[in-house]
Amino acid sequence: MSAENHYDLVVIGAGPGGYIAAIRAAQLGLRTACIEKEPELGGTCLRVGCIPSKALLESSFLYAEASHGFSAHGIETSGLRFDLDKMLARKSKIVKDLTGGVRGLFKKHKITEYSGHGRIDGPGRVIVKAKDGSEQALGATNILIATGSEVSTLPGIEMDWDYVGGSTEALSYPEVPKHLVVIGAGVIGLELGSVWKRLGAKVTVLEYLPRILPGVDADIAKRALALFRRQGLEFELGVKVTGARRNGDHCVVEAEGREPIHADRVLVSVGRRPYTEGLGLETVGITLDRRGRITVDDHLRTSAPNVYAIGDVIPGPMLAHKAEDEGVACAEIIATGYGHVNPDTIPGVVYTEPEIAWVGKTEEELKEAGIPYRAGSFPFAANARAKALGQTDGLVKVLAHAETDRVLGVHMIGPKVGELIGEAVAAMEFGASAEDIARTCHAHPTLSEVLKEAALAVDGRELNR
Ligand code: NAI
Repeated sequence: MSAENHYDLVVIGAGPGGYIAAIRAAQLGLRTACIEKEPELGGTCLRVGCIPSKALLESSFLYAEASHGFSAHGIETSGLRFDLDKMLARKSKIVKDLTGGVRGLFKKHKITEYSGHGRIDGPGRVIVKAKDGSEQALGATNILIATGSEVSTLPGIEMDWDYVGGSTEALSYPEVPKHLVVIGAGVIGLELGSVWKRLGAKVTVLEYLPRILPGVDADIAKRALALFRRQGLEFELGVKVTGARRNGDHCVVEAEGREPIHADRVLVSVGRRPYTEGLGLETVGITLDRRGRITVDDHLRTSAPNVYAIGDVIPGPMLAHKAEDEGVACAEIIATGYGHVNPDTIPGVVYTEPEIAWVGKTEEELKEAGIPYRAGSFPFAANARAKALGQTDGLVKVLAHAETDRVLGVHMIGPKVGELIGEAVAAMEFGASAEDIARTCHAHPTLSEVLKEAALAVDGRELNR
């Protein structure tokens, strides 16, 4: 192998974890290559995940507002309609701009891009198999696995990846389904279910558990369920789906203890699983845990020397920003020996209307761990800016240690809370107490005052209620 084909770091996968790791490694002076099997860079997040879903959430939200929300402001509309093709084209253009942007960043940082499927071929060697079948060997002092995840399915569900599909298909339905059945009331089901409901579909969400959004603070999830039901989304909880299939130009979904449901489209959103197919892990002795994940130590090192892994293929929440931060930490560990991600301050956001956001421990987790805490909450209904916006549903809840007052968790449901959560994350990262947030000056009138009031409420001192 020529020196030209030898790199300090070869990254497999150009999703948010992989491409950010490559950039950070290049910044630190490592000769870096990144292998990607899809024509566009950016991974699931940019191509068929976070970004296109947010584009459609915004378009469908504006349409729903114009349909139902404008009249409260004294704005009358008539003959309102939408052009789905144009909406989808706008989404695709945003994706194209961003994925193209990643290629630009690779050029800027002199990262060599290899197009094809990457596989490890023993210590220090990676093979790139191009679409035409040709293979090229690369030498790698370090290898980073950042191959992400793929849609999980259930036994009995016959995916045709069209009528019965996952999130990728639901981002591009050619027409609004009359009836969409969503299997799984997690993040994907609620976000994409919301999009198609706003555009006119009847949406039925079937969830195995007796609640929606497992993992989210139970009180917040309960409020969210009531608001989504008010928006017309239909939920059947505690339902075990046993089968789903396409039948001509419609679909049938079977579940225990109820009649089969007929629908135009089925969105299967019951989770994602790590993607490690054909990666050659066995050539360096890496094994998977029982959930198909690669285990790493706190330096993101796998069991094989000089092979690292980040993002959805390792344990932890499957979130783009978690993968990005791990990418930075991993590059820094390789180049300098130091790098760290704080697992306790990774925020989560669900981009429904209203949004849901959180960081740190839920009340259930604190109770289970026997940690004494005080909770303070404040509703958006008592906030001037929320009133002016006409978006008063929801609240912010701050959980602080009963003795030290240190913030242990912040949970939000309400307008733009995906943006507001940043302040709570920064506060927790700096080890803030609820009193610290309460004594920080917040601009008036802004939504952020709800966080300040919730922090005051931990001590029973909220000012505007
Ligand atoms: P999820 O794990 O969020 O939710 C899956 C849901 O399906 C759960 O409520 C589960 O109880 C339910 N379920 C499982 N088996 C079932 C069955 N047999 N019948 C009915 N319901 C069943 O998974 P989702 O929504 O597919 O998302 C996958 C990943 O993508 C998640 O890890 C999520 O964090 C990530 N993601 C994050 C987004 C964000 O941060 N805004 C947006 C979209 C996805």
